[in-house]
Amino acid sequence: MSDNKPGDNQQDPLLSNKIAAAALAALLLIFGLPQLAKAIFGGGHHGGDDELHLAYCCVELETTTAAGGGEEAPYDLGTMMAEANVTAGERGAALCISCHTLVRGGANGTGPNLWGVIGRDVASVPGFNYTGALAALEGEWTYERMDAYLANSQEYVPGGAMVQRIGRDNKRAELLAFLGSLSDNPVPFPAPLVIEAATEGEALIESAAETLDEGVQAIEAVVDDAVETATDGDN
Ligand code: HEC
Repeated sequence: MSDNKPGDNQQDPLLSNKIAAAALAALLLIFGLPQLAKAIFGGGHHGGDDELHLAYCCVELETTTAAGGGEEAPYDLGTMMAEANVTAGERGAALCISCHTLVRGGANGTGPNLWGVIGRDVASVPGFNYTGALAALEGEWTYERMDAYLANSQEYVPGGAMVQRIGRDNKRAELLAFLGSLSDNPVPFPAPLVIEAATEGEALIESAAETLDEGVQAIEAVVDDAVETATDGDN
């Protein structure tokens, strides 16, 4: 109070303290936000993959681009397919044509016709005598399921009639890109992981912004309150 100028002595003596408190609250909110977000979004396990970074999108982007070196990259079928050479996939399909026809309306052979197989119900070609093991599989063929089936068909469908093991990820991706093209209405390829990560990052930033917004409103309320108290003191 000693620094009060003459005439100021009616002002709320605590006003400057209140403003300082509001400023501190603002700082805490801004710098404490990553911690807060961590608490809310459950990044509790230290060192876990899902530990939260506000720069989530960019960190992921870097590690994905740097993949291919010694570090283990996440399995990214979408990116592999986007980069796949469809002509090479067509050549790879030479492995299949001893048992499967690939053209629209092609006859069944040892295996069923494969025109439009991606997006088609599993074991649904009329007139083909599927094993009970394959027929028991629900749903339709997605790229992901087909990827697993071609990687090791006996593991994916134990007791099924097809035996294929295409071990190289990029060979399967090529083949999948080609199989996907055998359609009047091709199913879009799976999204590359980078895009998924970016979308997740975007959602994260959005909710952080919302939290920040709420914080700003809270601070405004505190400041309003302080100003009101100060004004009351004046009267
Ligand atoms: C030696 C014969 C043979 C070869 C080679 C073969 N398949 Fe098959 N395939 C089969 C048989 C038999 C079935 C039916 C499996 C069952 O009923 O369990 C089948 C089933 C399938 C199905 C399931 C189709 C549906 O209608 O649900 C797909 C997809 C498939 N094969 C893809 C391929 C691809 C791609 C290749 C080449 C990489 C390939 N197959 C190579 C014999 C073969």
